Order: sequence, then C-alpha cells, then structure tokens
Amino acid sequence: MAKVWDIAVIPGDGTGPEVIAEGLKVLRAAADKMGFSYRLSHYNYGGQHYLKTGEVMPLSAIEEFRHVDAIYLGAIGHPEVKPGILEKGILLNLRFGLDQYINLRPVKLYPGVDTPLKDKGPDDIDFVVVRENTEGLYCGSGGFFKKGTPDEMAIQESVNTRSGVERCIRYALEYCRKRNKAKKVTLCGKTNVLTYAFDLWERVFHEVGTEYPDITLDYGHVDAVCMWMIKNPEWFDMIVTDNMFGDIITDLGAVIQGGLGIAAGGNINPQGTSMFEPIGGSAPKYAGKGIINPLAAIIACQMMLDFLGESEGANLVERAVIEVLSKHLKSLEAGKMGYSTGEVGDLVAQYIHTI
Ligand code: IPM
Ligand code: MN
Repeated sequence: MAKVWDIAVIPGDGTGPEVIAEGLKVLRAAADKMGFSYRLSHYNYGGQHYLKTGEVMPLSAIEEFRHVDAIYLGAIGHPEVKPGILEKGILLNLRFGLDQYINLRPVKLYPGVDTPLKDKGPDDIDFVVVRENTEGLYCGSGGFFKKGTPDEMAIQESVNTRSGVERCIRYALEYCRKRNKAKKVTLCGKTNVLTYAFDLWERVFHEVGTEYPDITLDYGHVDAVCMWMIKNPEWFDMIVTDNMFGDIITDLGAVIQGGLGIAAGGNINPQGTSMFEPIGGSAPKYAGKGIINPLAAIIACQMMLDFLGESEGANLVERAVIEVLSKHLKSLEAGKMGYSTGEVGDLVAQYIHTI
C-alpha cells in the first residue's frame, strides 16, 4: 500500500492561518494530480492559544511531532505577547527539540518577479543558504549579572560544537553536490574578529572539504557577504553559515528574491521530523484581510513535498507558482497583488490541475 504522509499543521498567528489554508489547497491539488495521500493533524499553538490558556506549547507536542513525517508551520508572533515567549516556546522549541539542525533557505528570483537589484535577473539570483539551526547565539546560553542596577551586565554566548558545525557543513557540501550548479560553497563567517567560533568553522570547513574535491571552497566575512549579495549575487551557489548570521543574511536574500511574500524555508532534521514555513512572520497588520501573499507558504509546501520524496508533485507546484507569477500577479506585496489571498491559492491549484 502506498504511504500516507502524516503532516502536522501549525497555522499559528497573524496571517499564518490564511497563508497555510492556501498552501493546503495547493497540497490537495498536487495530491489529486499525482495520486499521493496524506493525513493532516491540526495544532492551534500560537498567541491566541497562549493568551487564552497560558500554555505556549506542551512537551507532549514535541513527542507527538517525532512521529509525523513533516510539520507545516504558518507564522509565530503576536503583538500582545512579549517578544520571545512564543518564538522561544514554539518555533525555537520545535527546532531544538526535534534537532532540526539545518535551516535551508533557497534564494531564487523567479521569472516575472521584480528584484530591487538593478540589472539583475533570474540567472543572477539563484543560490541556497544553509543556516545552522540549533546552536550559536540562539542556544540561550548566558545571563544577567546585577540586573536592574547601574552595574548591570548581560552576556549572550555563541555555542559552536565540533559535531554541530561538522554536520551542518557536511549537509551544505552534500547539497551542493546534488544541486550540481557552480559546485561552490561559501563559508560566511567573521574569522577576523570572532577568532574562536569561526576558527572552528573554518578548520572544519577545510577538513571536511577535502572529502569533496569536486567542490570549490570559498570564504567571505559576513559583512562582505552582505555587500556581494547585493552587488554580485551571481557569485553565490551555496552559502553555509551559523545561526545568527544565517538569520540576517536570509532576510537580505528574501528581499533580493522579491520580498518576504515569496521566501520560504525548511528546518531540516535529515533523520527526524522536518518543518517547513514561509519566513515572512505573522504580519499582524495584514491579518484577517485576505490580502497577504500566500506564495511563500505555497513554496514552503513545495519544499515539504520535495523533502518527502514527492519530487514530481513539488515540481508541479513550482511550475504552477511560476505561471501565476509571470501571468497574473501585479506585485508580491500584500494588497497590491491584484488578487486576494484565496484567489492566488485558487490560481496555483487550477494550474496544477491543467498542467
Ligand atoms: C526566522 C525568524 C526567527 C529566527 C525568529 C522569529 C525567532 O526570524 O525564522 O528567521 O530568528 O530564527
Ligand atoms: Mn529571521
């Protein structure tokens, strides 16, 4: 009997539920077309649930998620909840608890999409960022000393383990080989200042890199990488970096690929449960209006299908997205698409049926 994919859905806050609804519409269309099956289980964790019950996300949820094939996440973040509570309690808790040690963020400019970069097109903007997702400054190590006094001190430490760095670099090298484009991986670091953390990264990069003689090893300091991403994005094939730098450069990447309306990412544990999400956040000011762009969530769904091994279904979704982008949408921005959130989802689903 064919496999039935078990997918946990966490629509989350703000515009999360609206964009996830469209992603699920597209998933239905792809499944009908390709003949694969899935089962959804919905979880209502997020700001509303927290304000109502005081519960962020129970430990038991993580245990349940270990048994699903993938998690499809909308957005986490609520204007009435102090920053950090939901992000740490849900998003980071899932990434860490499920050991999703890779944050995979493709930066790809689709035809018909405007980039703010002058004279750059789809041939120039097509690279993948592999961001370490469970260590670095995100690990929560540090603390206050003399909090609230004039002598107050705050320490936030970046933790980099040999094994954590190695598995991330290995993933990037393997992915680069499979991607088979320029066969180049750029380590994005700061070896001139962060002389412990990135010394380790650089040593591991070159050590592990010797096992990949077909791949060119390249290095850039994070500040310079930001500059080159704008000036010469065509130089990049794959970028591998730590958690904090990866967070920053992937927002920059999102902007050059057309904005947060189209940027998606995967939180990957190759041996466990992975989670796919649009990276734009909950955008509370657009919530409930039906004007947010659902394409990032739809592309997150495409990444999920690809990861599950439904690569034909994933290709179908991508082709449909490209059709809709080049033939329909006026803009990727909320309220300026020329279509409602639901209509964009309908268009993608319709293309899937007609391809
Ligand atoms: C992201 C987000 C998260 C991060 C926040 C919401 C905790 O910005 O997925 O990039 O910093 O990783
Ligand atoms: Mn971010």
